[in-house]
Amino acid sequence: MALNISSTSTTLSAFILLAVYIATTSADFNNEFDITWGEGRGKIINGDLLTLSLDKSSGSGFESRNEYLFGKIDMQLKLVPGNSAGTVTAYYLSSKGSTWDEIDFEFLGNLSGDPYILHTNVFSQGKGNREQQFYLWFDPTADFHTYSILWNPQRIIFSVDGTPIREFKNAESIGVPFPKDQAMRIHSSLWNADDWATRGGLVKTDWSQAPFTASYRNFKADACVVASGKSSCGGSASSGGNNQTWLSEQLDNTKQERLRWVQKNYMIYNYCSDSKRFPQGFPPECQMA
Ligand SMILES: *[C@@H]1O[C@H](CO)[C@@H](O)[C@H](O)[C@H]1NC(C)=O
Ligand SMILES: *[C@@H]1O[C@H](CO)[C@@H](O)[C@H](O)[C@H]1NC(C)=O
Repeated sequence: MALNISSTSTTLSAFILLAVYIATTSADFNNEFDITWGEGRGKIINGDLLTLSLDKSSGSGFESRNEYLFGKIDMQLKLVPGNSAGTVTAYYLSSKGSTWDEIDFEFLGNLSGDPYILHTNVFSQGKGNREQQFYLWFDPTADFHTYSILWNPQRIIFSVDGTPIREFKNAESIGVPFPKDQAMRIHSSLWNADDWATRGGLVKTDWSQAPFTASYRNFKADACVVASGKSSCGGSASSGGNNQTWLSEQLDNTKQERLRWVQKNYMIYNYCSDSKRFPQGFPPECQMA
């Protein structure tokens, strides 16, 4: 009897552990992504690690198999260490065509010990010019950190390790198109951009340091997947058994304070305060920041 009870509870706790594991484990890269270019310079290792590399002849890149229309997407990245000047690691969502939508993270490398720049942008219907740039409050090459995009019909929030760094609100009410009709794939690439990336192109890539490698792990997407014109989220946001609270998520007071902290201490460029660039007045969405 005692034996029975203990084996039942062992089975039960194993089941609970398994359930928790399934709920929190990240997706298999082999099922989610295709390496799209780089002739072997991009690799998926054991399904749970992906690496991109760059040398003098080529960079490399991958894209998601799924197309998404809204989602909360997390990826951990560890950027090119050491002298990464001239290299750019781009990680972004993008649709296709000449009036495409795009949500960008780009990491501009630097000399050893000098800070990376995290560059962000949002394109709607083919129009971007909405750059914000940041330094990070840690060394992004020493370890993996989580870079997240929350994209729902009201807003796009860029976060780093759960700290929001940028919010782009839906400003359709004042005439600014918002990405909400075109499904996007996740893309990433590592390439040479030493004509502009580091100190505006002054510092060139040191090819004696090649190959340069960036790594990815723990991909997680709570997202609406679009296939054959149908969204996995169905017609109404609350349909289905899935927890889709992210579809209406917004920044609470604590997160708004964190966002202000980042913007005050780590933001190095904001198009909404670049008056030289917009002598006729700032783009309309800047009122909503
Ligand atoms: C590289 O380091 C220099 C010197 O600290 C800094 O001005 C620059 O913003 C850094 N980042 C890039 C990508 O140039
Ligand atoms: C849904 O998810 C949110 C945040 O991810 C969580 O706070 C909430 O408790 C969840 N609700 C249900 C019913 O699981």
